[in-house]
Amino acid sequence: MSPNNPSPPPWSLPLFMLFSILLLLAGQSAAQTSSSSASSWCDPNGTTPDLTILAMGASIVYGHSSTSEAGFRPRLAQLLETSDMTASMVGTQWSGNMLPSTYSNHHEAYEGATIEEYTAKIAASGAYDMNANVLMILLGTNDCWWLPNTDPEITAVEPDERKAAGLAAAKRFTTFLAEIYSHAPDALVLVAELPKNSQEHADRCIQGFDAALPVVVEKAVEEGQSLVRFVRMYDVVSYEEIQVDGTHPTDRGYDLMGERWFEAIRNATEELCPEREEPEDSQDQDQEPSSTSVGNATLAPGSAGSVPSTSSNSSSVLPQSGGNEQAASADVEVGKVSSAARAQMNARWSAWLLMICVLLVAA
Ligand SMILES: *[C@@H]1O[C@H](CO)[C@@H](O)[C@H](O)[C@H]1NC(C)=O
Ligand SMILES: *[C@@H]1O[C@H](CO)[C@@H](O)[C@H](O)[C@H]1NC(C)=O
Ligand SMILES: *[C@@H]1O[C@H](CO)[C@@H](O)[C@H](O)[C@H]1NC(C)=O
Ligand SMILES: *[C@@H]1O[C@H](CO)[C@@H](O)[C@H](O)[C@H]1NC(C)=O
Repeated sequence: MSPNNPSPPPWSLPLFMLFSILLLLAGQSAAQTSSSSASSWCDPNGTTPDLTILAMGASIVYGHSSTSEAGFRPRLAQLLETSDMTASMVGTQWSGNMLPSTYSNHHEAYEGATIEEYTAKIAASGAYDMNANVLMILLGTNDCWWLPNTDPEITAVEPDERKAAGLAAAKRFTTFLAEIYSHAPDALVLVAELPKNSQEHADRCIQGFDAALPVVVEKAVEEGQSLVRFVRMYDVVSYEEIQVDGTHPTDRGYDLMGERWFEAIRNATEELCPEREEPEDSQDQDQEPSSTSVGNATLAPGSAGSVPSTSSNSSSVLPQSGGNEQAASADVEVGKVSSAARAQMNARWSAWLLMICVLLVAA
């Protein structure tokens, strides 16, 4: 305090060193988290992702036997149009009428294709060259559907074999994912469960497939394919919303699927573009009912995504679909990444605070 003593107090040097070290650590952890491949996926400002979507799969993705012949895609496009996301749909195939949206009806769906057939078809089609940054995949139903449809009595005594066939199909999916990674390493890859089937022989297999799928996804992420996400789909279409062929949804069922896909895309963009998450959170506090990015669109009753997302609680998702206990772990994975984003923000703030403290002490 006294003007005779201009040198700083004796405790200021160790304190300064401590601050410097903390500052360094904070900077390092921030650098580490921001070096994840997610940042290249958002626009340079990390705010409004510009999505180029490739819808991949078989007849359900094609939109088989829906009135529009476009299945879930018109509903998805409509929700994207009313959101803050910019998106377009690409593909070497096309089908159906996308009204009321103005989106293109292009996709990459091959009716009747099994996983292996599909892998070959898309590799030859040129679709991987279209620079899609969102690949949404629903594939595997035909691996289950073409199983011999033995009579119901036999089906009843061999449920385990049916389930095993589904597990084997999920294994083939692992190979497919690796193939995707080699062609599109920077794309967000949304992998959907197979919707339920009202033909029992197919459904047992589908349940086997769906039970294994979260593990397949988790493994891919662990092995470095960090932009793969799992999407629940088994429970979306109820038996009443499945057509008599046992596989294809009604128009209403397709719409529900479009809503689920929209949720999945929105969740992933919020997770991967942390800057985008922030304005939404603060908006929600001000004017909750009108501010969700869905606009007026009504989501399915009971669909979890209609609640403004609070990603801090994403691991507490209710288990929904039959027979996939491991699904929860995939959600935990998602929660982990967004908390990393949060940690990065915190680190930045602490760095600023520390810097101010250091300046104060130095003065
Ligand atoms: C990014 O931010 C800059 C400066 O605020 C702005 O001019 C630009 O339009 C933004 N880009 C996008 C894609 O939003
Ligand atoms: C989207 O996130 C919410 C909140 O974490 C979660 O409840 C919901 O299941 C997610 N939806 C999809 C389709 O992943
Ligand atoms: C939202 O609702 C208003 C009033 O009901 C309507 O005029 C508008 O077209 C709707 N917007 C969308 C995107 O559906
Ligand atoms: C998270 O979920 C649990 C269980 O549903 C709930 O008790 C808790 O209040 C939630 N926390 C937040 C921050 O929303």
